[in-house]
Amino acid sequence: MVLALVAAGIVAMGAVFARAQQARKVSNEFRQQFLKDFKRIGLNTTPGDADLLRILVASARCKRGVEVGSATGFGAINMGLAFERNGGQLFTLDIDAGMIRTTRENVAKMGLEKTVTAVEGDALKTLAELTGEFDFVFIDAVKADYFKYLKLIEPRLKVGAVVVADNVIKSEKQMKDYLEYVTTNPNYDTVIVRSSMEKNDGMAISYKVR
Ligand SMILES: C[S@@+](CC[C@H](N)C(=O)[O-])C[C@H]1O[C@@H](n2cnc3c(N)ncnc32)[C@H](O)[C@@H]1O
Repeated sequence: MVLALVAAGIVAMGAVFARAQQARKVSNEFRQQFLKDFKRIGLNTTPGDADLLRILVASARCKRGVEVGSATGFGAINMGLAFERNGGQLFTLDIDAGMIRTTRENVAKMGLEKTVTAVEGDALKTLAELTGEFDFVFIDAVKADYFKYLKLIEPRLKVGAVVVADNVIKSEKQMKDYLEYVTTNPNYDTVIVRSSMEKNDGMAISYKVR
């Protein structure tokens, strides 16, 4: 009897704790400051590119996104803010366990755990394991593999999806197949933009027309 009461008490406390965790809110002020103070590493996308990614997700009202290459999550938390506003979901993939750990920490600090899921593993494998349809993709891992990443996720892309590829100016030679495909295939409308002068590079933005 006593044991049963203790067990019931533990279960009830667990439920209260779980609700408190779910209800955890991070203020907009904290989030803005966290982004401003973010200690970027060389691999991270630039603030200008991260702003453009967040604006694209928000303006196209995207609901399900995937990022190929998380690093420490600077792009993921920026896109995550827009996915959260849209009631959507972002999966961010990285092969490096340390990067995934840091991305998860940064996602938690921003209070975006319910929106952003970090998946560890080779994207050439994990992309194929994703289920459901996607309306936003950000490709930012091995430059020579961009076309392979796109072909893996393409069957899951909705009409109207937006696909963004980073470093398309500086690494153009390594991704000729990708750029040739998205600029000549009538299923895609593509433009190359430079939203940041920091790395003197640019991103290809492709819209899936049909
Ligand atoms: C340029 S960084 C990504 C920057 C990130 N998008 C951001 O916004 O800060 C590239 C990342 O791709 C990861 N990567 C490299 N090869 C990979 C693979 N085969 N699968 C998944 N991630 C990979 C690296 O570990 C690295 O963290």
